[in-house]
Amino acid sequence: MESLTTRKQLNNSTSIPMLGYGTYKIKDPAEAYNSVKLALDKGYRHIDTAAFYENEKDVSTAITDFINAGHAKRDEIFVTSKVWKTELGYDKTLAAFERTMKEMTLDYLDLYLVHWPSSSAFDDDWVNTNRQTWKAMMEIYKSGRVKAIGVSNFLTHHLDTIIDMDVIPAVNQIEINPGFLQKDTVDYCQDKGIIVEAWSPLGRGKSLSHPVLQELAAKHGKSVAQIILRWEIQHEVIPLPKSVTPERIVENSQVFDFELDEDDMQSIDDIPPYGNSGHSPDAP
Ligand code: A2P
Repeated sequence: MESLTTRKQLNNSTSIPMLGYGTYKIKDPAEAYNSVKLALDKGYRHIDTAAFYENEKDVSTAITDFINAGHAKRDEIFVTSKVWKTELGYDKTLAAFERTMKEMTLDYLDLYLVHWPSSSAFDDDWVNTNRQTWKAMMEIYKSGRVKAIGVSNFLTHHLDTIIDMDVIPAVNQIEINPGFLQKDTVDYCQDKGIIVEAWSPLGRGKSLSHPVLQELAAKHGKSVAQIILRWEIQHEVIPLPKSVTPERIVENSQVFDFELDEDDMQSIDDIPPYGNSGHSPDAP
């Protein structure tokens, strides 16, 4: 049976656990440390942070303390961080990575992502900016200090700017929640062997009230959050739910003991947009 430790193969020799723990907005140091520690205690083996979240130090300290206490080996925990959108371009990306590695208590990262693309909406030289950023990412990858590199919030036209370069992104982390599957981007990625991850998989909690989802929750004897996460997993997407509430951290991990049938999946696919954030990578 699939579980929190079940991994998907990336497009290189690395693999990634099929559900992760997101840490966006968990800025308070003690809260970041304690919630990551609890997530690890409860079996999560995939932790997602970013320079922008301002919690890289506390998140990684929770991970190294867990490892040093003998609860897991380093290679059993998949750790991601990201370069923020003010640091795009070759030199700035390399420098941002060094800052992240100084901040984090880890020798290597499993995955390093470009957090947002450059876009024609705010950068006349956007294609070149994306290519220069990706050149730096490839160099970081070749140094061996990250096991894989990828992108986040790249739509198909952003992916097109780097897809011909030496290393194809291993992952694209985009917003996905009911009503907002971003199917064009998911199809593009899956066609090219790029694993898709979902940020805000629960629409920051806004997605939980939809009657179709509530009906499915009653049908399966699961919570609405579990129905949504299962829907994403069955779309071959890796959800990164975040919560600082102990019961929810556990609840969000219990999504491997049931399955949605084709009609269930279709009825969620058919939900019109309602819970998404409205953040566009093409907005300044
Ligand atoms: P909290 O952290 O207070 O538990 P997303 O991952 O889509 O960004 O959603 C995160 C938001 O959803 C947070 O506000 C979190 O609240 C809430 N949340 C996370 N898991 C659940 C759950 N299982 N049930 C209800 N709300 C949840």
